[in-house]
Amino acid sequence: MKIIRDVEEMMALSRSWAGHTVGFVPTMGYLHRGHTSLMQLTRPLCEHLVVSIFVNPLQFHANEDLGRYPRDPEGDAQKCAAAGVDVLFIPEGFYPANFRTRVIVSGVSSRWEGAERPGHFEGVATVVARLLGIVAPTVACFGEKDFQQLEVIRSMARDLALPVRILSGPLVRDDDGVALSSRNVYLSPSQRERARSLNRALFAIRDHRGTVGERLAAGAAFVDSDKIDYLAIVDAEDLEPLPDDAPVTRSARAIVTARYGSVRLLDNVAIEPDPR
Ligand code: PAF
Repeated sequence: MKIIRDVEEMMALSRSWAGHTVGFVPTMGYLHRGHTSLMQLTRPLCEHLVVSIFVNPLQFHANEDLGRYPRDPEGDAQKCAAAGVDVLFIPEGFYPANFRTRVIVSGVSSRWEGAERPGHFEGVATVVARLLGIVAPTVACFGEKDFQQLEVIRSMARDLALPVRILSGPLVRDDDGVALSSRNVYLSPSQRERARSLNRALFAIRDHRGTVGERLAAGAAFVDSDKIDYLAIVDAEDLEPLPDDAPVTRSARAIVTARYGSVRLLDNVAIEPDPR
């Protein structure tokens, strides 16, 4: 596995692959089984597999955890090599000094994480657009764990006619049911225990029969957190909340974000329409 830090070198290599299939898994590092599952999903679809590690300052705002975002460069490189990655791209000087562009995806990015973290999705869309320009992949894979992010990226790729297929990989849970996330490392043992309530809540919502409001009430009863930022059932494509007083009639997602001290955890589960 080759490690590339220089943007120009990555661009030259990806241009030399013209006519080949290139797979791409962008990450912010501190890799876990959720990330490696995306690599495994993409590996058979491409001749060249690239993983990037870049903790993107544009998607953090001032009082967030950019400075203390967990890092493990050696462990990450080992995991990528074991997953059959050809190139690990760890850019230095990613944004040139005169970088002026921001990518805004309206609508799907406005609620939920977009409302809780103003500017976050602008930062995500901007870095992903630049990464896609540099790596020029045929297929790029993102996790369903960050479900809204996935829909923002899908919308951007579709609206800008980017020549890439956006693939998604299922959320991966730890043995205790907690969704894998690099930020889980911040949880104390008691917070971790309480965090198990989130997937229980989501499964209760998924399995309950009744209106959206009744499902949400059934799920909310399980949540043990310091604060729920949101708990909702949303349309699986535009992320708009479904009406409270009606059953689920289309493909939907139950989404939750809750706080444990300064740690925010996201989780979600697919909800099938009620049988008629
Ligand atoms: O999901 C992430 O790790 C990041 O938001 C991404 C897509 C790599 C962009 O920085």
